[in-house]
Amino acid sequence: MSDVDPRLRAHFRIGEPSDERFVEAAFELVLRRPPDPDAREIALSRFADGTLSRAALLHDLVTAPEFDRVRQLDDVIALARGARKRGERPRHLQAPPGTDERLVEVPWVLSRLRSGRVLEVGYAFAEPAYLAGLVEAAPGELVGVDLAVAEVPGFETVAADARELPFPDRSFDQILLVSTLEHIGADNELYGSQAAPDANGREAALGELRRVLRPDGSLLVTVPLGEPGDHGSFRQDDISGWTQLLTRAGYFVEEQEAYELGDEGWRSAPTFEARGVMYGTRGPAASAVLCLELSPRRLRRLVSPDGVRRTARRRLGPRYRRLRGV
Ligand SMILES: C[S@@+](CC[C@H](N)C(=O)[O-])C[C@H]1O[C@@H](n2cnc3c(N)ncnc32)[C@H](O)[C@@H]1O
Repeated sequence: MSDVDPRLRAHFRIGEPSDERFVEAAFELVLRRPPDPDAREIALSRFADGTLSRAALLHDLVTAPEFDRVRQLDDVIALARGARKRGERPRHLQAPPGTDERLVEVPWVLSRLRSGRVLEVGYAFAEPAYLAGLVEAAPGELVGVDLAVAEVPGFETVAADARELPFPDRSFDQILLVSTLEHIGADNELYGSQAAPDANGREAALGELRRVLRPDGSLLVTVPLGEPGDHGSFRQDDISGWTQLLTRAGYFVEEQEAYELGDEGWRSAPTFEARGVMYGTRGPAASAVLCLELSPRRLRRLVSPDGVRRTARRRLGPRYRRLRGV
C-alpha cells in the first residue's frame, strides 16, 4: 500500500463512511453541531438522487452564514491560546461590525486564565466554544455554578445561587463572570428561574464571591456598558457605576478595558462616553462592554491610611472615637 498515490488514499478514506456518517461528521467538523433532522434528510435524499456531492455539502456548510460565527469564535479562542502560551495579556482586541460582545469578552477572559481552581459563574448558557476553550486550557479544576443546570464534561457543575454559594471560604484561585453579573438579582425567567427580583443581588453575589476567592485570587468580570438603566432581565451601567459597585464590594481594579461597537466593529475605547450608548442598537446585543480583572482588597485596605483608620474603628469601636476626640 505504501506505493499508493496519497491523493487516491484520501479519496478512498473520504468514500469509506456511509452517507449518514458523512453528513453527521461534516456538520460536526464545520458547524460544530449535529445536523437538524430536516437538513439530514435533505442531504441524504440528494446524495441518493445524485444532486449533491460530498464536496458540495462541505462547500455549502463552509459558505453558510452560520459558519462565520464558528470561525469568529475559533479565531478568538486561538488568539487567547497563543497569548496564554506567551504570557501576554492582549488588549485592543478587534471584532467585525454587527457581532455580539462575546468576540471580545471570550479572548479577554481566556487569555487571563490562571491555573488552579477556577469558578465559572453563569456557565449554563455559555457558548459551547468558550466552555470547550476553558476545558482545553486545563487550568486545574473547573467548577461551574448557575441557577440552571447543564452538564459540561471537564467541569464539576453545581446548581446554586451566586448570592449564597455552597463553597468554603477562600476555595478558588480565580472566578469568571462573563456577561453574568448584570443578570444577578434581575428577572431570569429567560433562563428558567422564577426567583424574585432583588435590587441588592449584585452586591450580595459580589460579597459571596469575595468570600470564596483566595486573598491572592483574581476575579474576571465582563459587563454591558452604556447609559445606565434597568432592562428587566439585566442592568446596564457606565464605567463609574460598575467600578463603584465593585470597589464598594471590596475589590481592587487591577486592570480594566472598555470596548465599543462602531461602524468598524469592536474596538478598544479608552475615552469611552456612555451618553447615547444604548443596548441592542448597534448590533445583536451590547453596544459596549467593560472587561475587568479585580483582586480582593483586604491587604491594600489595611495598609492604606484609610484602611488603618477603618480597621482601628472596627476593632476599637467607641474607644477609637474617644481617642480621635470624635
Ligand atoms: C447571560 S447568561 C450568562 C452568559 C454566559 N456566561 C456566557 O458566557 O455566554 C446569564 C446566566 O446567569 C445565570 N444567573 C442569573 N442569576 C444568577 C444567580 N443569582 N446565581 C447563579 N447564576 C445566575 C443565569 O441562569 C444564566 O445562565
